[in-house]
Amino acid sequence: MNKILVTGGAGYIGSHTVLLLIKAGYDIVIFDNFCNSSSESIRRVEKLVDKKIDLIEGDIRSTEDLQRAFDTYNIDSVIHFAGLKAVGESVEQPLNYYDNNVNGTVTLCEVMARNGCKKIIFSSSATVYGDPATTPILESFPTSATNPYGRSKLMIEEILRDLYISDKEWKIVLLRYFNPVGADSSGTIGEDPNGIPNNLMPFIAQTAVGKREYLSVFGDDYDTIDGTGVRDYIHVVDLAQGHLNAVERIDNFDEVMTINLGTGRGYSVLEMVKAFEKASGKRVPYKIAPRRAGDIATCFADPSYAKEVLDWEAQKGIEEMCQDSWRWQSNNPDGYRSESSNI
Ligand code: NAD
Ligand code: WQD
Repeated sequence: MNKILVTGGAGYIGSHTVLLLIKAGYDIVIFDNFCNSSSESIRRVEKLVDKKIDLIEGDIRSTEDLQRAFDTYNIDSVIHFAGLKAVGESVEQPLNYYDNNVNGTVTLCEVMARNGCKKIIFSSSATVYGDPATTPILESFPTSATNPYGRSKLMIEEILRDLYISDKEWKIVLLRYFNPVGADSSGTIGEDPNGIPNNLMPFIAQTAVGKREYLSVFGDDYDTIDGTGVRDYIHVVDLAQGHLNAVERIDNFDEVMTINLGTGRGYSVLEMVKAFEKASGKRVPYKIAPRRAGDIATCFADPSYAKEVLDWEAQKGIEEMCQDSWRWQSNNPDGYRSESSNI
């Protein structure tokens, strides 16, 4: 049976996608170097599906590691999550980000081509829209980047488009995610950031569970409903389902597909805090702090193209996002390092 290679499959979005793929009957192998994840996420997915998951521990920058995967399995397509994703860190370590994200993707595509595997679904990001002139954001909007992380995503998009121009046998889907949050409803897998979280949801969750004293709200003078930043938060399970729909349809596409995955609805920081307090029954103390450099006021998707070409739309609302985040956080206060008797 043909396999799907899932790079970065031990990570936050990858592990949720692997769970859905296996539940739907796909045969997959995870390829990960665990630089930002642990094998515990895979062990927990194995528990949920009651099945052993194939794994190649390796680096996407290593031709040898990748070739080992192709020598071991009959790989038909790739879902490519592997990469570094912290905006601030990318400013401090640009070469590391370009090496991991851009060189890693080039190496991956070279090895894929050499092995006659020419189908790839790539994790892009709403960050490629920079500071959009208007919202909701359509795929046709101009792109730009303000940091090395965002630039690495833009470069990879361009590289993959060039690859298609050079060889029309390639099937390429670029999925631009908005703000992934939430967790599988089992509460056993979820987002497990190293150190102090950069993103809003894990920070709120860690504050509610008592690991952080208060949330700093970065700016309350934006031109938004309450002055705080507005984003399109999307449940990670909906996001994972978007990949399954792409896998099902990829053979029918005869151009590079660039598709937003968002809900089409924006919520402010303070709206998220309120929703989380309601879902968790805990207080989330916060203080207003200065704006964070590089942040924009408002970002939300027009998701109608995903509906048209993937027959996909987000199903889960803000309540479910907060409830599922809370279940994961409260069951696993220290993420995958937590002691847990029932997992
Ligand atoms: P994550 O860090 O949880 O997962 C990424 C995985 O890739 C990790 O398991 C990590 O160990 C692995 N990895 C990194 N570099 C590697 C390398 N060189 N070789 C092999 N494995 C490597 O991140 P995530 O949130 O699951 O994000 C997945 C993808 O989606 C990333 O490409 C990210 O840029 C993109 N994305 C994420 C978000 C978000 O907010 N989480 C938003 C838009 C796009
Ligand atoms: C959301 C809102 C903050 C933390 C980032 C990347 C983007 C994508 C998703 C990968 C903003 C506010 C946050 C805090 C706060 N990742 N905030 N206090 O910045 O929209 O997107 O993650 O591709 O590329 O840039 O997400 O969760 O960091 O912030 O007030 O402690 O919450 O100012 O308005 P962002 P975020």
